[in-house]
This record gives sequence, C-alpha cells and structure tokens, in this order.
Amino acid sequence: MKSVLDELSRRVRSAMAAVGADGDPMIRASQDPKFGDYQCNAAMGLAKKLGKKPRDVAADVIAKLDFADLSTEPEIAGPGFINFTLTPEFLSRSLGGIPPGGTAPAAADGVDRLGIAATDQPQVVVVDLSSPNLAKEMHVGHLRSTVIGDCICRILEFEGHTVHRENHVGDWGTQFGMLVAHLLREKPDVAEHPDELVIADLESFYVAAKTRFDADDDFKTEARDTVVKLQQGDPDTRKIWKAFCAESLRHCHEIYERLHVSLEDRGESFYTERMEVIVQRIDEMRQRGDKDWIQISDGALCLFLEGFTTRDGEPLPMIVRKSDGGFNYATSDLATIAHRVDEMRARRILYVVGLPQKQHFEMLFAAITKLGWADGCELEHIGFGSVLSKTGTMFKTREGGTFKLKDVLDEAVARARAVIEEQESGEGGRGIDPAEVDTIAEAVGIGAVKYFDLAHARQSDYKFDLDTMVAMDGNTAPYMMYAYARVRSIGRKAGVDLASLPTDAPLVLEHPAELALARKLVQLPETLHGISRDLRPNVLTEYLYDLAKTFSRFYDKKHGVRVIDAEPEAVRTSRLRLCDLTARTLELGLHLLGIETVERM
Ligand code: ARG
Repeated sequence: MKSVLDELSRRVRSAMAAVGADGDPMIRASQDPKFGDYQCNAAMGLAKKLGKKPRDVAADVIAKLDFADLSTEPEIAGPGFINFTLTPEFLSRSLGGIPPGGTAPAAADGVDRLGIAATDQPQVVVVDLSSPNLAKEMHVGHLRSTVIGDCICRILEFEGHTVHRENHVGDWGTQFGMLVAHLLREKPDVAEHPDELVIADLESFYVAAKTRFDADDDFKTEARDTVVKLQQGDPDTRKIWKAFCAESLRHCHEIYERLHVSLEDRGESFYTERMEVIVQRIDEMRQRGDKDWIQISDGALCLFLEGFTTRDGEPLPMIVRKSDGGFNYATSDLATIAHRVDEMRARRILYVVGLPQKQHFEMLFAAITKLGWADGCELEHIGFGSVLSKTGTMFKTREGGTFKLKDVLDEAVARARAVIEEQESGEGGRGIDPAEVDTIAEAVGIGAVKYFDLAHARQSDYKFDLDTMVAMDGNTAPYMMYAYARVRSIGRKAGVDLASLPTDAPLVLEHPAELALARKLVQLPETLHGISRDLRPNVLTEYLYDLAKTFSRFYDKKHGVRVIDAEPEAVRTSRLRLCDLTARTLELGLHLLGIETVERM
C-alpha cells in the first residue's frame, strides 16, 4: 500500500510543472468531507507568480493532471482550492492489494507491514532517549523520554532506517565519588565481590550518602578523594563505581522490560577521553586565531555563541573546560556528537529530552554548527512537557519527593485489574481465568500509562490521571485494546480464519460505512511518513482512535452494515476482509506505539 498523499503530491507537482509552475503542491488531507478527501492549496500562491486568477490556474493544473485512476473529477472550490475525492475503485484496489496477514513480506522482526514498503533513502539515526542519572532510581520524570523515544524509534525502524537507541545515562561526575565512598563504608568488601552487589532501594541509598556527606567532614574529604581516584582511573575505585552503575542499570532495565523498551546503554563516562580530545581541538582553534568566539574567561575555556545572553544582556558563555580543569555537561555532549557523527556515521540525531533543557540544546547545536563538526547531520531536540499532578501542580509525593516510576506502574496495573475484575464480575463476565487476568491487567495497565502519555501533544504538560488512563471509553489504551480484541473476535464468531480469506476478488465498497472505513484505512502510510518527519506520536493515537470509531460505525447494527450474516458471499468476504485490515492496522499502530495487544479482554 502506497501513501496516497505522496502519490497525489507527485502527480500534482508534475501537472504544475507542465503549466510552468514548479513548487510545493501543498496537498493536505481534508478536515471536512465536504471538501473531498484531499485538498491542494497551491493555486493561490502560483497565481501571483503566473499573473493569472487562482481559479484559472487551478483549472490549468487539472487539465494537465493524471487523476482518473485515483480520484473523481477534481473540484475547484472557493478562491482556488482543488478538492479530490478518491474513487471506490481506487480504494478497493489499494486495500485489495495488501497481502494477507500471515504471509506478508514480514520485516526481520516479524512485523506485519500491511504492504507498506520501506523507504528508499534509509538513514543512520541516533535517538538519545531515557538517559536517567544512575545516582538515583528512575522517577516519573523519565517516563516521557522513554516512551516517546521508543515510539519514535519504532516508527523510524518501521520506515526502514537504521536506528541506534542510545541510553545516555548519567554515570559520571562528583556525585559518584560520594556514592562510591558511601558504598565502601557500608560494604567494605564490595571490591572483592562486585558482581554480588545488591542495593534494594537506590533512592534511600542516595539519601543516606548525601546525609552523611552533609554531616561528616571526614566523609566529605573521603568523597572528594574518591572523585579524584575515579578520574585518575584507580582500579579498585573504578571497580566499585562500575558495580554501582551496573546495579543501578539493573533497576532501570527492570522497568524497560516492563515497558517493552529496548535500549543500548552508553553512559557519559564513555566519553571521558574523547572530552580531552575535543577540548584540545577547541583550544587549538583558539590559538590558531578563532579568538572572537573561543576565549579563556576567568580561567575557563568558553565558546561565545551569537544570540545567547544572560538575563542582564551579557554574552552567555558555553563553558567547555572549567577553571579547575574539569569538564561539564556541554563538554560531554560535544564529545558525544563528534562520536555519533564520525564513528557511528549518524545522519540524524534526535534528543528526546524535556523542554527545560531547551537552551542547552540550542547552544549545543549552535556550537556544533560553528565548529563545523556535524555538517550533513540533522540535529533535533525532541522536547516534551512535564507530567503534572491531577490538580495541575508539580507531580510530587506528600513529602515533596518524586514518585518512583516502578510504583506508578504498579499502581496503574492495580487499577487496570480492578476495572477488568469489575467487568468480569458483572453480566458481561466471560469467565476469564485468574492467570489470564494477570496478563491482561499488566498489558492494560502499562499500555494505559504509555498511551496516555503518547496521546498528549508532545510539547504540552499533562496531568497524570490514572482513572482516565484506565477508563474503557474515550481515547485510552483500554478502549483501543478492546476495539482491537473485538474486531479479532468477529473472525472467530464468523468461523473464518481472517488471514486466509481469498484476496483475489476486489473489495466491494458501496455502503457509506464501507467507504468511510476504507478511506481511513488507506491513510496509514501517510500518517506514518508524517510522524517520521515531525516526530509527533499523538498523530498516531489520533489516527487509531478515529479508525476505531469509524469501525464502530461500520459494524453498528443501525448505521453500519451486516458482516457475519451478510449476503451474498462476495459481500460477506469483502466485509470480513475490511475487519481483518482494521484489526491488522490497529495491531500495527499499537505495536508502533509500543503497546501490547491481547486477543480478548
Ligand atoms: N542524564 C540527563 C538528565 O537526566 C539527560 C541526558 C540527555 N541526553 C543528552 N545527550 N544530554 O537530565
């Protein structure tokens, strides 16, 4: 199945060229069926260039346009919009050409591609996601980067790009001196059995270390000495630090597993030597004459980038080497980019990091551009808003601490279980056995948290509201998962294996409900292409939600069509195939969101 939007754009572009107007064909899906399925908005802009009336330009373009196998006669509307309505034959052919589920040319990972081809311009993309600080337990603030980042990776992988999922964890810095020193005091023989280290509660471990640090001057000195030893590569200190990081990462991976997120861990410490190298490169540039923007200021090596000032309007430096010789966050990120571009050959680097770090990334990208170290590589900060409490304040525990992500997930699963158990105990109960309830509750609870996050516009804050997340109606995971299970059950009820329905006969698309469903189904490729550019997962949740609602209308007794008992046989088969395509589209969509489906719930 091809993207209709791409196909139409390609054709309008060549018709425009034929009337002497090259440019963006400006095709959009119409928001209102009154204006057909797609709209071209290019004529107004072209009219000026060509010195003609927009409606005349539109007519000229249509005259040169090859549309017959795709759309009915295009209509000119308003000042010069061109509206396209896809023909039933086109819809039938596009959907009819999708290979059956079981035998689809499955990708290496076995995903049903619904006949969507991979891009012919694959790129190496590095996605920097999750990246918690290993000194502490993952908290709810890490949810968004992990979930949004994973969804973006899945979509880019589906599109055929080579994606590196980089978990750029914070495993370096003075805090680790304190933690290692504390660990030595608590478990003096840790260096002998580093593999056996278990820290049940990282959060209280950190708090204990910090309390000791603040109260005890001897310990303070010990902690500072440990930092120096760590930086100088003292083998025992490194061993204990490694053991601590491994233990902390183990905690993270328990969560990643529950969230079905896979990542490659590569912490900040990986870049320690590379930081030396790049700082030297920068200092050499300064000595060779780049003095206007690379300067030593109060002993620190700084980059002064255009457009960045302090609140008082003073130039804001980006410090790459502090006056004590130490490096900081910006230095590590510069070294990271150099590594990703030169060694990993990245052509696109995406940072899925909260919006509070907006300025950091703006300065980083400005610095890299000025240094010329990432030419030909696209850098983007995929910023996101905060998770707020139900009342819109900061999401904090009663004591003012952050919620552990693990506890939040447990709570979501418990709520999902309650919803399912209530449903089971009522009239609609289907006698699902307890083991299956466990599986369903875990899938629904985790899915609910992820879906709710992804369904919000990335840049906005949202209120963490478990009741809404696990609700069976509305744009939620339970609703979508239920919609999927329901469509799948139609095949069972009809006594047909949907995957083995004959695909040689055309789909019959006559009833408005059939046409509406078909129109929605053919929008999948363009929806996915759009997200691989704009990186907005909520576009996918909206699409799936619309699809589920469109399907409900199709299957509705009053407004829709008969399916299981439809006649004649060709119509029944055609409708069952539409069910199959809907189920597979929902399944693929939920899979790309990182949400597991269950066959019944
Ligand atoms: N560890 C950082 C934090 O917790 C996030 C790192 C984001 N990635 C990066 N390359 N700067 O804030």
